[in-house]
Amino acid sequence: MVLRSALLFLSKRRGLRRWMETSPSAERLTSRFIAGNTLERELTVCQNLYAEGILATLDHLGESVTSLAEAERSRDDYLAALDQLASRAPHATISIKLTQLGLDFSEDECRANVERLVERAKSIGTVVEIDMESSAYVDRTLALVSDLHARYGSVRAVIQAYLYRSEADIDNLNQQKIPVRLCKGAYKEPSDLAFPNKKDVDRNYVHLMTRLLDHGVDPAIASHDAKIVQQALAHVKEQNIAPDRFEFQMLYGISRDLQRRLVRDGYRVRLYVPYGDAWYPYFMRRLAERPANVIFLARNLLKH
Ligand code: FDA
Repeated sequence: MVLRSALLFLSKRRGLRRWMETSPSAERLTSRFIAGNTLERELTVCQNLYAEGILATLDHLGESVTSLAEAERSRDDYLAALDQLASRAPHATISIKLTQLGLDFSEDECRANVERLVERAKSIGTVVEIDMESSAYVDRTLALVSDLHARYGSVRAVIQAYLYRSEADIDNLNQQKIPVRLCKGAYKEPSDLAFPNKKDVDRNYVHLMTRLLDHGVDPAIASHDAKIVQQALAHVKEQNIAPDRFEFQMLYGISRDLQRRLVRDGYRVRLYVPYGDAWYPYFMRRLAERPANVIFLARNLLKH
């Protein structure tokens, strides 16, 4: 718990971030979780996954940008990625963060940036998955998702099982027929907003997952928790829910055996595949989720 909090604290340190992101050893550290610095590297990884029967959602790393000009660059990077999806990564989606598209500076500009992406995604028959960030952003994120979904379709919301409010949010999204990705939640939240104990988060996850599988549209079960995946499989079998009505999502580089087993058994699996220079906060959150990764990385560094 102490290590998790320390890693989440460090994930926000700008000086450390600058130093890490420009370090020549960076790729050695990050390659397990991050496809590479460029779109080309990303597309090659997605193409290889597709050959194995695994779909992708592309995440161009970058969050909490420091100006609207940076937000526009992020939008253009995603537009460039969308242009290549059909030929290089069939059925792939993109995952975005609203703070990366300018939410901290102007809600209107952010909305305009996201709308451009949703329009383009719709034109090539794919969707924009809108990641959920810390609790301060949930209302604004869901409002934008609802609005874009009503006008275009082509979006998927993300709900975090650690928040008390999530059951009501899921019922609301189900009513609007908005697809949802359900995850446990990766940010540090106060106990008046989120379950402080992991076992309560896990219990709520299963409860929300069942609601989504029974009443949602194209839900994505985003977890590496083998017990939860098992419970999802038991539920869909019991309720006769066909494998093309939902999907499993996992992060690139995590629980690779479980990913392959699900594909072999005929389930749709989509991996969240990040790329780009701004990898530090994403990488630190992955370490915080499983502090054993710190030991794994230290061993890796010593090996070279
Ligand atoms: P849990 O943390 O209980 O882990 C279960 C098991 O999975 C562990 O015992 C371990 O074996 C393995 N595992 C999990 N994390 C690992 C890691 N980092 N390294 C190695 N093994 C690991 N969060 C958020 O707040 N907003 C979002 O938009 C998203 N989006 C998102 C998309 C996708 C596709 C996924 C899979 C996850 C997210 N998340 C997210 C992150 C999510 O909230 C959560 O932090 C992680 O998925 C870890 O939770 P698990 O469900 O895997 O369970």
